[in-house]
Parts: sequence; C-alpha cells; structure tokens
Amino acid sequence: MKLLIFSAIVVLAGAYIVMKFTRVPDPPEIDVQRWWGSGKRPQKEDESIRPFKIEFNDTMIQDLKQRLKNRRRFTKPLEGIQSEYGMNTDYLEKILNYWVEKYDFKKRAELLNRFPHFKTKIQGLDLHYIHVKPKVNKDIEVLPILLLHGWPSSSKEFDKIIPILTTPKDGYKFVFEVIAADLPGFGFSEGTNKPGLNPLQIGIMMRNLMLRLGFEKYYVQAGDWGSQAATHMTTLFPENVLGYHCNMPLSSRAISYLKLFIGSLAPNLVDSDHPERVYPLKKHFTYLMRESGYFHIQSTKPDTIGVALTDSPAGLAAYMMEKIAICSNRDQLDTPHGGLENLDIDDVLDTVTITWVNECIVTSSRLYAEGFYHPDISIVANIPTAVPTAAIKFLYEVSYQPDWILRDKFQNLVRSTSFDFGGHFAALHTPKVLVDDVFVSVEEFIKFHNKK
Ligand SMILES: *[C@@H]1O[C@H](CO)[C@@H](O)[C@H](O)[C@H]1NC(C)=O
Repeated sequence: MKLLIFSAIVVLAGAYIVMKFTRVPDPPEIDVQRWWGSGKRPQKEDESIRPFKIEFNDTMIQDLKQRLKNRRRFTKPLEGIQSEYGMNTDYLEKILNYWVEKYDFKKRAELLNRFPHFKTKIQGLDLHYIHVKPKVNKDIEVLPILLLHGWPSSSKEFDKIIPILTTPKDGYKFVFEVIAADLPGFGFSEGTNKPGLNPLQIGIMMRNLMLRLGFEKYYVQAGDWGSQAATHMTTLFPENVLGYHCNMPLSSRAISYLKLFIGSLAPNLVDSDHPERVYPLKKHFTYLMRESGYFHIQSTKPDTIGVALTDSPAGLAAYMMEKIAICSNRDQLDTPHGGLENLDIDDVLDTVTITWVNECIVTSSRLYAEGFYHPDISIVANIPTAVPTAAIKFLYEVSYQPDWILRDKFQNLVRSTSFDFGGHFAALHTPKVLVDDVFVSVEEFIKFHNKK
C-alpha cells in the first residue's frame, strides 16, 4: 500500500513538473509602436529615409590620438602571466601604437562607405543601417535578409559577408538583398533615454524597420543579442519571418533548463555530437564565472563603468578587445593576445573606433541591464516558434545547446551544423563558411514552405 501511494505521488509530481515546464503561455499585450524618442511622440512622425555617410573627421582623430598619447603608464602584467588576469598591457600598448600610427581612419571609413548607408526614425530613434541590393539578371530571385549583430559590435561586423551574400552563387537561383542594422544604442544608431528597451522591444523595432523599407516577408541572420531580438521576432511575428539562420541559437524555455540539468546525468545519451560543449556543467560554469564579470557589471551598473570607458580610448579598447578576444577563442589566455589575433586587427579597431566616435559604450552596455528582468521577456521566451530555423554552431561560441533542447523553442529546426573551429564573431572570423550555410539553409526554408 505504502509503495502504491509513494508511486502515485512520484507519478503525479512528475506529471506536474512536466506540465509546469512545458506549458506555453499566452503572448503578452505589447504596444508595437511604443515611443523611445526623447519626450512625447510628435503629432506627425518623420518617416523619411536619408542616405548617410560614415565620417571619421580630423577633429575626432586628432583628439583621439592626443588622448592615446597622453595616457598614463599601464601596470605591467604579473611575471609569467599572459592574458589570465585580463588584457595584457604589454600587448595592449602595441595595439594602441598601431591605432595611433598605422590604423588608417580615412581609408577604413571609405571601406565602410563602399556600401550604401541610411538612417530612418523608428519609434522615435534614428536608426542606421546598410542596405545593399544585388545587381542580377531577372532569372535570379532576390531575397531580402536582415542581419543583426550583438555586443560589442555593429553592422560593421557584416562587411566581409555582405559582398558574398549579394553575389550570385553557383547552383543557386537566388541571391540576397541585405539590410544590416545597428541595434538602437549601438554603432551609428541612436540610443534611448527611456528605460525598458530590451531585446523583445528591439525585435519589434527591427520588424518596424523592415516594414518601413517595404519588406513584409524576409529572412533573418543573427547572433548574440541580435539573435535574442530575432528569436523574439520569430515568436511574435512568424508571418514576417520566412526563415531564421542563427549562429547563437538558444532556447530559454523553462523545459530547456530542466532538460539541460537532467541531461547532465547522461551527457552522451542526450547529445551524441558534442556533449563536451555543455557537460560537465561544472566545467561550463567555471568558464562562465571566469568570463562573465563584464556581464554582471553591465546588467547591474552599466553607467558607472561607462564613465571610465567613455573618457578613455585606451580603457575602451582594452575592455572591448578582452571580450572580443575571448569570444574568438577562449583557450588562448596563455598568449599575450588572448584570442584577439583570430581576427583582423583593423576589423577589431573599426569596432572600437565606431564605439568611441559615437560614444555608445553606455547605451549599448545597458542592453544587459534591460535584457533579463522584464516579465514579457520570460513569457515570450517560453513560447515556441514555428518559423523554420537553421542553427550553426561554431566551436568557441559563448554558449551551446544541443538540438534536442533547441527544438523546445524552434519547432521547425530544419538544419543544424556544428564546426570544430570558429567563434562568436563568425561573420568576421569565418565569413565564407557562414555565408555558405546561409545559402544552404535558405534553400531548406524554401523547401519547407513549398511542402506545406
Ligand atoms: C567630428 O566627429 C565628431 C564625432 O562624430 C563629432 O562629434 C563632431 O561634431 C565632428 N566635428 C566636425 C567639425 O564635423
């Protein structure tokens, strides 16, 4: 009898847990035209689309170089230490000298300007984006694709892949028209003065941007925070997203966390491909603890660290480059560059320069403070999406989930590829591999829609 009661309790408790963790909530009511500009929404909104050119002007360059030259002496790394305590200051010095003496501000701006840039106001914020239309014959279909970056980055991250995406590829009957946007508060996009601009709200803004440009249906490629915004977009507006290609795919559904923990009992059973990328969880948490200090600072007190970083280009460069390095290869702390040299130094300095010029380190870092605590986010995160999705997983991506967990969120995961190389900034690190996968994936998305 006792055994029977005990079994009944276990079964009921199990059913309760499964029900609780798999329940799909109703979507929250959200104002999709919420005003993020200063003050109140005006009677008539400015909906113009204005061409924009990136400029690194002489006043800015001179001021920046002056600050870099007048900096105080750095504390030397400890004896025998490379990057284990943070940015190696001997190495940093070399990079800063390069920034002052060799980095060609004018030429870099010219390179960025080889694409057409625009600005337009969405919900009160002046957003910057790159918009490239391919030049092709009529027999090649042109498909719009929105590219979304993360932190610390901007649409600049895509300058190696844009030319490949917009050039016809052997064996494919389509090519892409690219829209690469700077998230609000990043790069050349205006930040908000109002609290609450979280990834869900950014997803809404990015959809409004696409509607402004005349795109009702489009593909999305995204990673990092961009992929958070994009994932919410696929959940709230599946009718707009034809397919979603993601290089940092994550399911934040309650059931996914439960499965992640249960999976640690038998890692090899739950993920036959790469159990070592998640398990043992202890190893993963150790890595997270080691590398997520910035995350805690930015999600709690972004404005304080922001004072130092807005005031000192050396500080800004060190802070950003340390993270860019680790996200490119987390196993190179025993080198002076700490992983940075997996990328082209000019690309890295473009990113730092863009952040410096726009004084946007605070507005971009605040996304961490907005990113987690809003109830709408947990609700929408818990709703699965039917938008066909392709996951691409590079070795040193900052987080990894096996497909059996991703499917909790992405119910039509039509493709999943993992590589034993590459990192977080895939568009800069392994541009061709990324684009090849976008082409194959979009073909899968098209097949998916044709089957329906
Ligand atoms: C130069 O660029 C800086 C940074 O974008 C800007 O604040 C400043 O107004 C510009 N100065 C001139 C003279 O254009």
